[in-house]
Amino acid sequence: MARLTEIGWEEFERLPLEAKKPYLANGDIPDTPFHTLFAQQFDRALLERLARLANRIRFMAKSKEGAMYLKSLLCHKRAMLYFSQPSSRTFLSHLAACQILGLTTGSVRDTAISSEFKGESKEDSIRTFSSYFDLIIMRTPEKGLAEKMAWELSNSSRPVPILNAGSGKDQHPTQALLDIYTLLRSFESKGGLKNRTVTFCGDLMRGRTVRSLSYLLTNFENIRQVFVAPPQLQVPDDVTAILAEKGVEFTKSDNLREAVTLSDAVYMTRIQDEWDESKGESARIDTSRFKFGAEELKLLPADGIIMHPLPRRDEIATCCDHDPRAMYWRQMRNGMWIRSALIAMTFGFERQIMCFGA
Ligand code: CP
Repeated sequence: MARLTEIGWEEFERLPLEAKKPYLANGDIPDTPFHTLFAQQFDRALLERLARLANRIRFMAKSKEGAMYLKSLLCHKRAMLYFSQPSSRTFLSHLAACQILGLTTGSVRDTAISSEFKGESKEDSIRTFSSYFDLIIMRTPEKGLAEKMAWELSNSSRPVPILNAGSGKDQHPTQALLDIYTLLRSFESKGGLKNRTVTFCGDLMRGRTVRSLSYLLTNFENIRQVFVAPPQLQVPDDVTAILAEKGVEFTKSDNLREAVTLSDAVYMTRIQDEWDESKGESARIDTSRFKFGAEELKLLPADGIIMHPLPRRDEIATCCDHDPRAMYWRQMRNGMWIRSALIAMTFGFERQIMCFGA
């Protein structure tokens, strides 16, 4: 059993992501992550276990008896939500997940009012949170900070788990979990998540949700991936290299309408101009053909779905919102259930929840 206490930071940092997975596992609970840092930690079996647990929690939360049982499970634990980047859904759905499971919470959402303003390093701030809390859920613009802190905390006297709620342009693993859960639910009664075409559209260069979801989809049988974007925002080579290595069929395109006609799921994303390196960089790119509107809705197959990690700007027209194939509202709510499942699993309550009422 590999442990983070047995490997130096520099050596760990250099490992390929898949080789890091065993170091992030929970030593006491088989096949379960302790720290959740990137999509490469999740194989198909774990994704399906999480989906079953999320379904169970969703069902239990409907009754007072079930909700009270869930709330009792982690009432002895506290979670810190450290979000130094803006967020609505990821922050609130993690907060709601903590409430469902009874965890009490604290938060820092603006480092201007924490001691980082006085010059404290992020590393020291997170070490401070671990003194008071049993779980740290963190979103930061720095690539790799969640990983570094997972290593630091595992090598400290308070090794509390870290959930990566978005790191740089790099990874957003819990978003990918909710996306997979949405796809599993959407195709459950239609033959399942296999032999499908998933089209990604928008800013595929800088969208961290695309990187994480593209990887997770490789766990499922015969999922063809289509990347539709302006050339400047096309999917980076590191994402397609993984697909090539795994023998996954993929294509790059700049024709959304053509892709929509052949898609089971269309995953729209917004232009991530917060990452622009020069003023107005994104505004100079013609994105007009990378929007989903009434015409695209007509071309989408009857069983197809439209997804978006949200927030959106104008890349999905509001006229699509009431179409039964618009899955983005349900996708957002699914985040609360899958994050509840992940937190429950992290603390070893999967079996108890699955056995409730049996
Ligand atoms: N999808 C997502 O990460 O949304 P927020 O930025 O609102 O958390």
